[in-house]
Amino acid sequence: MSETDQVVEPADHLAAMNLNDTVENHSFSDRVLIQSIVGRPDGGAGLAGKRVRAGGWVKTGREQGKGTFAFLELNDGSCPANLQVIVDAGVAVLNKLVATGTCVVVDGILKVPPEGTRQRIELRVEKVVHIGEVDPAKYPIPKTKLTLEFLRDHLHLRSRTNTIAAIARIRNALAFATHSFFQEHHFLYVHTPIVTTSDCEGAGEMFQVTTLIGEAEKLEKDLIKNPLPSEADIEAARQLVSERGEAVKQLKATKASKVDIGASVAELNKAKESLSKLEERFKLKPGIPQKDGKIDYTQDFFARQAFLTVSGQLQVETYACAVSNVYTFGPTFRAEHSHTSRHLAEFWMVEPEIAFADLQDDMNCAEAYVKYLCKWLLEKCLADMEFMAKNYDKGCIDRLRMVASTPFVRISYTEAVELLEEAVRGGKKFENAVEWGIDLASEHERYLTEIKFQKPVIVYNYPKGIKAFYMRVNDDLKTVAAMDVLVPKVGELIGGSQREERYEVIKERIMEMGLPLEPYEWYLDLRRYGTVKHCGFGLGFERMILFATGIDNIRDVIPFPRYPGRADL
Ligand code: 4AD
Ligand code: MG
Repeated sequence: MSETDQVVEPADHLAAMNLNDTVENHSFSDRVLIQSIVGRPDGGAGLAGKRVRAGGWVKTGREQGKGTFAFLELNDGSCPANLQVIVDAGVAVLNKLVATGTCVVVDGILKVPPEGTRQRIELRVEKVVHIGEVDPAKYPIPKTKLTLEFLRDHLHLRSRTNTIAAIARIRNALAFATHSFFQEHHFLYVHTPIVTTSDCEGAGEMFQVTTLIGEAEKLEKDLIKNPLPSEADIEAARQLVSERGEAVKQLKATKASKVDIGASVAELNKAKESLSKLEERFKLKPGIPQKDGKIDYTQDFFARQAFLTVSGQLQVETYACAVSNVYTFGPTFRAEHSHTSRHLAEFWMVEPEIAFADLQDDMNCAEAYVKYLCKWLLEKCLADMEFMAKNYDKGCIDRLRMVASTPFVRISYTEAVELLEEAVRGGKKFENAVEWGIDLASEHERYLTEIKFQKPVIVYNYPKGIKAFYMRVNDDLKTVAAMDVLVPKVGELIGGSQREERYEVIKERIMEMGLPLEPYEWYLDLRRYGTVKHCGFGLGFERMILFATGIDNIRDVIPFPRYPGRADL
């Protein structure tokens, strides 16, 4: 039975009619999306005979039949599959079309290709509407197997490759799924600031935002062209003002004409103005402004020290403690000198915050969210996932299925350390020694999730000494209600906690950690007035993409990676 004469359920009727009859027009362009042809369950076969306009970039092209026609594999990014296009020599100059990277827009008729070809449909071109030529000798990413590392040096063109385009679609799907999940669960999307004056993690890994350096540089340049006035210049200008003043007095005393007096007063005013400008410039000091031997931030743009945010959590808590269910999803910045394949200096984080909820609720939410993301990719992004499975990580689809359907293991930090110690006794070698109190290293996390349990593991109740000040102190007074979600391939995907809602306790914690109280007064107000039990977590968005795709380096799953030494474009 062919796809076109399949028996369909009534609910599928409309979709099936659509499948057989029409090509969906692009809403804002005069061509159709290639996905609306080759992305159909019938591979486009049901559209034979339709006349369409398609546009895209040539993946591969070759002249055939002694130059009588050309085959082009055209891709417009709407799906991983290409549209096969056939152009006769009578229609266009074939050698202008075939180079990889060439942009073409063509009108033609969809036809079923001869038996024995892979494609279910091809486009026979009647007219070439546009050619954006490529000189193959100069094109930086010609079609040979290019490494992801090489592509990192060509960020502006790497989106033309199948891999980066597939990752972009998966990333897009995960962002959509994120909003869908939290909206379905009645969370409010709150935009937290990028520029902040609070250090959320208290780790001092913040990028400073300042205009002081730019201003100092501008002044320096200006001073070369236009040096600072000397004492003598000021004195001369003062002299001129007093002479001009004298002249006005004289004219008034001799009852000179109004016109003459007016002209003289104007001269005096000019002299005063130029004196005050000179005096103003005389006060200028090259370099960064200082006061009492320290940088004077009152002269900076925000009149205080400011930074790029490391997390939107503290700010989003102000909304959680008012409208109860919120999330923020935006870029965060950390000036860590980590050159690992899991760290970026600019990365995106999804941070929900839930009022009237504790650590258990937090873990339940994190687990439900990660499962939802996995299911979403399996349902809506399977073609791209198949591409990743074929080219990068053959287990990636099974991993999504496993995570979507398996309950996460939950163990306390103390149990985790016991398991690691047991592994060491059994001969397992770790680079970082294991003992209660250490911050788990990536190798420990990966051992737990990849080897010991082979599924996601949530570790909770960490020693308070290694965690941030805002986490709730447990009754044992040694641990805090923190939790990390560890997944195979990545290690830590999520970090979260129940927040310390007790005013006295959190104040004590801030002081204990040697942090100044003053900048956190607003945060303490949330505990002073109408305090509530609440919790939240942060999911590293790029780590989620690593986990889903099986790509090894985090620099390849964000469009414009920023890491020590690099910030291209
Ligand atoms: O564990 P982290 O530091 O937690 C927070 O920032 C909390 N304020 C979150 C919250 O409770 N609202 O970071 C959360 C996640 C990590 O688990 C990791 O996945 C990711 O962010 N992450 C990074 N991803 C890429 N590059 C980096 N440098 C990252 N640092 C953290
Ligand atoms: Mg963490």
